[in-house]
Amino acid sequence: MKKVSVIGAGNVGGTTAMRIAESGLAQVALIDIAENMTKAKALDIEDARYALKCDTHIKGTNDFSALSDSDIVVVTAGFPRKPGMTREDLLSKNAAIMTDVCGHITRYAKDAIVIIVSNPLDAMTYLAFKKTGIPKHKIFGMGVNLDSSRFANLIAKKLGVEVEKINALVIGSHGETMLPLPRATKVGNKPLVDLLSEVEVASLVEATKKRGAEIVSLYGAGSAYYSPSAAIFEIVKTILSGHAKEIPVSAVLDGEYDCREVSIGVLTKIGLSGIEKIIEIDLTLSEKQAFQQSAQAIKESIKFLNV
Ligand code: LAC
Repeated sequence: MKKVSVIGAGNVGGTTAMRIAESGLAQVALIDIAENMTKAKALDIEDARYALKCDTHIKGTNDFSALSDSDIVVVTAGFPRKPGMTREDLLSKNAAIMTDVCGHITRYAKDAIVIIVSNPLDAMTYLAFKKTGIPKHKIFGMGVNLDSSRFANLIAKKLGVEVEKINALVIGSHGETMLPLPRATKVGNKPLVDLLSEVEVASLVEATKKRGAEIVSLYGAGSAYYSPSAAIFEIVKTILSGHAKEIPVSAVLDGEYDCREVSIGVLTKIGLSGIEKIIEIDLTLSEKQAFQQSAQAIKESIKFLNV
């Protein structure tokens, strides 16, 4: 059976482990330095097996050697945002944690596909790419898939249509400069921009950008986890099933969109071996400029990290 390891047993990690375990697609190792909490979550998830009629094996541990033989490693370890914080405010604290985690991945799971989730997402993905030396098609970040899901949800509610009819796309950073793309977003086979006024579209774009902060502020402590874990699960499921699918992720670019030495949200084709292809969307001049600004903002963070 395939194996997925989830590093970080907080809300995002715990919920992700639960979704994978309940899918029956892979055995799960949930790993965190907080030993008792991690063991508790794994036992709690395991106790649901009888009710769900699902035999998946899950283990909770603080021993990173449990990473061995992983097909996929999901990294959620790090501090979450508190109200009033941007994702960038977490940069130095989470970089230290990520560096430590990368040491364990290099030691025990250097052949796995690695999905980074810790914030600030794009800088953490680039840091992990540099620290582990894993080829760029096998290490990428989950950020814009969540943002695209939020955009789709808001569009579905606004138009009163089923969410499955929507194909939403957000690229750029999973941060203040994210770039929802109404022109590339479709409802059925119609572009979103043909169905709503410019003002209505702009308000959905703004709501998408602010959705993470809206949830952080309502929770009061911590950030979203149900939708992030669903967006991670979609990627994990796609890799494990081998049915390649277009999914936006934060990818290390090497000339695409004229960008290098940065990891940023772009549309990709994900399959068995990770990123099979980076799909370059035709951007208008203003979208191009916004994308470059987003890349620049991520590069500032990367520069600060000195990698
Ligand atoms: C969010 C955090 C997880 O967007 O980045 O909710």
